[in-house]
Amino acid sequence: MEGERGRILVVDDNRVNRLTLARTLEQQGHAVALAEDGRQALERLGQEPFDAVLLDILMPEMDGYAVLARMKDDPALRHVPVIVITALDEVDSAVRCIEMGAEDYLPKPFNAVFLRARLEASLRRKKLRDLEQAYLQQELMLRQSEKLATLGKLSAGIAHELGNPVAAAQRGAEQLERALREHLAAYLKLCAAPLGPEQVETLRRLAAEQEACRERVGALDPLRRGDLEAELERWLEDAGLEQAWEAAPVLVSMGYGPDALAGLAERFPGHVPALLAWLSSGFTVFSVLEEIGEGARRVHAIVRALKAYTYMDQAPVQNVDVHEGLENTLVMLRARLKHGVTVRRDYAPDLPAIEGYGGELNQLWTNLIDNAVQAMRGQGELTLATRRDGDAVVVEVTDTGPGIPPEIRPRIFDPFFTTKAPGEGTGLGLSISHGIVTQRHKGSITVESRPGRTTFRVRLPLRLERGMDEAAG
Ligand SMILES: Nc1ncnc2c1ncn2[C@@H]1O[C@H](COP(=O)(O)OP(=O)(O)OP(=O)(O)O)[C@@H](O)[C@H]1O
Ligand SMILES: [Mg+2]
Repeated sequence: MEGERGRILVVDDNRVNRLTLARTLEQQGHAVALAEDGRQALERLGQEPFDAVLLDILMPEMDGYAVLARMKDDPALRHVPVIVITALDEVDSAVRCIEMGAEDYLPKPFNAVFLRARLEASLRRKKLRDLEQAYLQQELMLRQSEKLATLGKLSAGIAHELGNPVAAAQRGAEQLERALREHLAAYLKLCAAPLGPEQVETLRRLAAEQEACRERVGALDPLRRGDLEAELERWLEDAGLEQAWEAAPVLVSMGYGPDALAGLAERFPGHVPALLAWLSSGFTVFSVLEEIGEGARRVHAIVRALKAYTYMDQAPVQNVDVHEGLENTLVMLRARLKHGVTVRRDYAPDLPAIEGYGGELNQLWTNLIDNAVQAMRGQGELTLATRRDGDAVVVEVTDTGPGIPPEIRPRIFDPFFTTKAPGEGTGLGLSISHGIVTQRHKGSITVESRPGRTTFRVRLPLRLERGMDEAAG
């Protein structure tokens, strides 16, 4: 068998030794670089990668021990194998070097066969280690992209769902500030006015009305409303109100028409603008508060759904209600479904709970539903069907899309296999799903497809495998 070849750094202060070693190594097919002392050796090691170092121990300036110690301290050099070169009477120093992390030692004078054997063994070990490292790195990146893949499917929808109520709350906070300022200014004006007891009593009644009549908002049909607003705006302008265009729609929402306003104006001669500003801004304060509260409730509901979807704060293995998982997933994907996908549920009425990884099962439903919606280009029928089958539960996700062409069917579960444009799909959805079903739950996932009807069928045992071990033991 061909031996391992590599880039070798030879470190020896003795020129003859250095050259002899270099020649032998080159004859054996390695690439060789030379250093005269420890300092030079570390410099070279910092500049380029080596597969092994042949290191003399006794050198001026910086000896082999110091080089070895520095290499073992440096994460980038720690794994480069070091073979120390020792004279026959230096067994103790060889032992010390091995204790410090050297891979092997080579006695002087050199023996070419010995050198080849030891060096090649070291290189082989290093290569295996490098391979293992590269594999782990790849595995890590795959896991990372898997996580991102599912997250990506949800984040757009969630951001959208959260965006509306949060924007409304933000807008509301600004409106609230303006309305409150106006309200207080009008209030101070009214306080400064000499009002009789009857007028004060009317104000008290109006204050209660501001709070109570916010429920009437939106009850009017838009055309009638537009007319009323225009009429009121004219009336308010005539009465000398500065923000007539702003106050008119608010007063309409409160149920005021010109007649009611005229009645009020009669009772507060000389104070009409302040009274109406006070009335409409007070109402605005209450309705904006209502809107902000509604937004916060909506955000809370989304966060609750997200927690339920991810099984946050729960043990990894639970008794999973499959219907609940499917429903939580539908909530999370609502934004994707609402423009043209009809969801049909064909749920078995008394489906038993299954033992499983709840969060991962929801990832599975997300991937299957996401594929179905993408295949249908957002228009069509999605059917979720469940049933019990012996000691397992079967879930089917069916779409009315164009189907999976037979020639790609064998590859759809492969990682990174996708027919979608970059940015639309990473090709990880089904490979993640396959792992979740077959490895984590020891179930099976199959597909049946023709144009107009594609069904992914997932079979999940009622109990996880460890349950069977327990039963057997
Ligand atoms: N319901 C379906 N109808 C038609 N084709 C499908 C369906 N589900 C999957 N496919 C095909 O299988 C391929 C692989 O699916 P998979 O879910 O693994 O990756 P993806 O959807 O392309 O990307 P990702 O899921 O990572 O966003 C898809 O690109 C698509 O061609
Ligand atoms: Mg997919």
